[in-house]
Amino acid sequence: MSRAEAATGHTLRAILWFATIAFLVAQLVRTDRSNPAVSGDLSAPPAVKDALQRSCYDCHSNQTRWPWYSAVAPCSWWIHHEVAEGRRRMNFSSWTDYTSDPGTENQKLDEIARLIASDAMPPWYYRAMHPGAQLTSAERDTITQWIAGEKLSHAASSPR
Ligand code: HEC
Repeated sequence: MSRAEAATGHTLRAILWFATIAFLVAQLVRTDRSNPAVSGDLSAPPAVKDALQRSCYDCHSNQTRWPWYSAVAPCSWWIHHEVAEGRRRMNFSSWTDYTSDPGTENQKLDEIARLIASDAMPPWYYRAMHPGAQLTSAERDTITQWIAGEKLSHAASSPR
């Protein structure tokens, strides 16, 4: 082995060691994988509810099914962030907070319709990890029709 080869071997070993230690140290930074209590879950017809549960509830509810890799840094940091952000923007587990103000509920419903129509939700990286989470076009139609019906009933019940 030449001197240069020995030096390269040295550097590679040092990098591997460094990466291993960094990975192990990263595991010390724990993230919260708790599921807070469900305060007022969405009520919707079973076909709608089932599709939303399968496709959205991991990030937009307090009933997240945390996968094993959500316990391994650095994945855990990122997944934790996505779930926290998803719940903050819209949480099906406290949906009754929105229904108490139909304006807010309509706004969330509009957003859902918009994001599923453009295939923006569930996010692509989530679909890559959970191929079964993709909404079928029949499910998209069912959800969109349900949303239209909900909004009609709000319009009918709001005082003019
Ligand atoms: C992997 C996690 C994840 C999944 C699964 C997911 N979302 Fe999201 N969603 C997010 C995040 C993060 C945001 C906020 C950032 C953004 O808009 O990209 C968000 C934002 C939204 C918003 C905007 C809410 C607002 O008022 O600001 C809606 C509506 C939404 N998602 C609907 C859905 C629906 C419907 C599904 C299922 C078909 C779904 N999401 C699945 C992570 C997720």
